[in-house]
Amino acid sequence: MKRVAILISGGGSNMLALVASMTGDHPARPVLVASNDPVAAGIAKAAGQGIPTATVDHRPFGRDRAGFEAALLCHIEAAAPDILCLAGFMRILTPGFIQRFQGRMLNIHPSLLPKYPGLHTHARALAAGDNEAGCSVHEVTADLDAGPILGQARVPILPGDTEASLADRVLALEHRLYPAVLRRFAAGDRRPILLP
Ligand code: GRF
Repeated sequence: MKRVAILISGGGSNMLALVASMTGDHPARPVLVASNDPVAAGIAKAAGQGIPTATVDHRPFGRDRAGFEAALLCHIEAAAPDILCLAGFMRILTPGFIQRFQGRMLNIHPSLLPKYPGLHTHARALAAGDNEAGCSVHEVTADLDAGPILGQARVPILPGDTEASLADRVLALEHRLYPAVLRRFAAGDRRPILLP
């Protein structure tokens, strides 16, 4: 059974979808939900699901990224995860941290990578006049939002779409894509999943 730690910064809707999927004959189980925000709403939700949680407030560390990550690592290593899932985790990780989990750390990004790495992906797709958008699950490497793609899901951009309406449509798809990718990845299969 693979042990999965999930890192969040906010509401944790992707974390909840991942947690809900890890049941029955699924080859993985959640062992920790951790956040850089001591009051991330997802932490209370994870605790409500009976999952061990940890928070390390990144703010006291200021620019000392390595110091923040060392504190976070104490909690992560104690849970001895096989796989790390970033799910709405909004801190940039240092190459040292990434190397430690390279090949077993996933992230979900709300765009059709390699388009729109970074922030404000939906606003950028709308501004570009794209007729589709979506989300990508990728392995985390030192290049931000640029690791091997493990899954992608597409949605149409509709006339009158706003950043909010597009974000809602993509988020619903994230909640299907990420669990599907995690299940396949935990079974040792790295073939990409493309929805639909
Ligand atoms: C989502 O748009 C996700 O793509 C991005 O963070 C946002 C919030 O995710 N990674 P969640 O609701 O906290 O899982």
